Amino acid sequence: MSGWHTDANQLRTVSIQKVVTETELVKTLYFRDKHCASAKPGQFIMVWIPGVDEIPLSISSINGSLVSITVKEVGEATRTLNRMREGGLIGVRGPFGTHYKVVGKSALIVGGGVGTAPLMLLTSRLAGEKVKAVVVEGAKTRSELLFVDQLVELQKNNGFKAIFTTDDGSYGTKGLVTDATEKLLSTERFDIIYACGNEAMTTRIFELAEKYGTPLQASLERFMYCAMGICGSCVIGKYRVCRDGPVFNQTQLKEVEDDLGKIKLDPKGEKVKA
Ligand SMILES: Cc1cc2nc3c(=O)[nH]c(=O)nc-3n(C[C@H](O)[C@H](O)[C@H](O)COP(=O)(O)OP(=O)(O)OC[C@H]3O[C@@H](n4cnc5c(N)ncnc54)[C@H](O)[C@@H]3O)c2cc1C
Ligand code: FES
Repeated sequence: MSGWHTDANQLRTVSIQKVVTETELVKTLYFRDKHCASAKPGQFIMVWIPGVDEIPLSISSINGSLVSITVKEVGEATRTLNRMREGGLIGVRGPFGTHYKVVGKSALIVGGGVGTAPLMLLTSRLAGEKVKAVVVEGAKTRSELLFVDQLVELQKNNGFKAIFTTDDGSYGTKGLVTDATEKLLSTERFDIIYACGNEAMTTRIFELAEKYGTPLQASLERFMYCAMGICGSCVIGKYRVCRDGPVFNQTQLKEVEDDLGKIKLDPKGEKVKA
């Protein structure tokens, strides 16, 4: 219960400063909040959409006190949020959870779809730490790829390498992001892999990390209500994703291998396919 009374857990009302359309279904919303601006890469916040719901979202960028969240429309809360305009009001709590940690000097970053959002905050931290990184981003098709311009910019100015994959071959390499990841791991050594995407992707990246003996930090998603380790809705194995994650290391992922990519709880608390 330690996080219950902290300032960061109090709901703050913030005003949307700017909305950027990334793709047909994805928008980035900017607001100012000093607690959110102290988030570390991979941490998430709870966003209250008045009259609709409160949902977990990762921080995708921080610039002074200006913070962004990048939201993919999948249901009522995300649809309502993405229709909000400059000046619209939302509530925020957090940041919560664990974060990606800098390890060594060469990193492989793997993002699937909107999972690339928290990894963008990580790329700016790694660039600041002079870590060389290869970023592999995958999407179904070109129009769903996120942050292409920013990643190309990082490639030009920070010695990063950006690789894009699309399932239909409309941009970058044709195929799955996990296949491109295996190709890299079979030819290059990395000190660490950072991953965020759907659980099928994360499970495959976990298997590859094991196979090639490269440490992994991966972010997981579960239903979240309290975000403070109390309600149990976000459980995976012996962990609660909101408190012990969302970023887990390889040892922890191995401990929950029986559930990873297989089982999660639905909003009614019933076990469903992850
Ligand atoms: C730690 C964490 C970080 C996340 N970061 C992002 C992000 O940066 N950008 C982004 O677009 N999405 C992110 N999500 C997913 C986002 O929370 C869900 O897409 C959102 O809650 C869906 O709400 P909805 O009402 O629009 O859709 P619904 O109709 O409620 O649900 C659609 C699907 O979204 C998922 N979902 C619904 N409610 C929750 C919940 N309370 N917790 C987790 N998943 C849920 C389920 O898979 C469900 O099938 C994150 C989730 C977690 C757990
Ligand atoms: S969301 Fe309640 S325990 Fe994690």
